[in-house]
Amino acid sequence: MKITVLMGSPNRNGSTALLADSFIKGADESGHTCNVIDVCHCDIHPCIGCVRCGYEGPCVQKDDTEMIRKELLSSDMVVFATPLYYYGMSAQLKTVVDRFCAYNSSLNSRHLKSALLTVAWNADDWTFDALKAHYQTLVRYINFEDQGMILGYGCGTVSMTKRSGYPEKAYQLGKNL
Ligand SMILES: Cc1cc2nc3c(=O)[nH]c(=O)nc-3n(C[C@H](O)[C@H](O)[C@H](O)COP(=O)(O)O)c2cc1C
Repeated sequence: MKITVLMGSPNRNGSTALLADSFIKGADESGHTCNVIDVCHCDIHPCIGCVRCGYEGPCVQKDDTEMIRKELLSSDMVVFATPLYYYGMSAQLKTVVDRFCAYNSSLNSRHLKSALLTVAWNADDWTFDALKAHYQTLVRYINFEDQGMILGYGCGTVSMTKRSGYPEKAYQLGKNL
């Protein structure tokens, strides 16, 4: 499979990257090809809601969304990798998701497999309730086929994350695809 990882943490060597790298190692070992898009360092602007695209058509904004569109529509799977920011995905990743607007139908027709990799400082059982609900709703709406969620409770720093079992869980998710 061709897998596109939308890397939504601005920290290239942070906890989200640890999970993403572990997932990729597992997926590579199982013969998949992973392509990481570092969305925080791309040129991507928020949707301006003009709907000139008609929910499927060229976007009036010319930026890296076109590259992401091409990558996703030629992939078999998308991975959303994000730190928990105020109980949701990072704004950088949400900006990419909002721009799905201009290729909504194409993305829906692709029926991509998907996964969520995320980390948070908190370890309460409700930590990921909102993000989980958002991801699962996207899966339902965009017709993705969920392959799993790695929810890194208590992963506030790289050393906390390294000590946790979540990188191994992310590796196993990639390996068992
Ligand atoms: C702007 C911001 C918002 C955050 N919001 C939350 C939050 O709502 N809940 C939580 O448990 N941790 C929160 N955190 C902590 C991060 O999710 C956590 O430190 C994570 O490991 C950072 O991942 P990274 O190393 O990939 O940047 C927040 C951190 C930042 C910078």
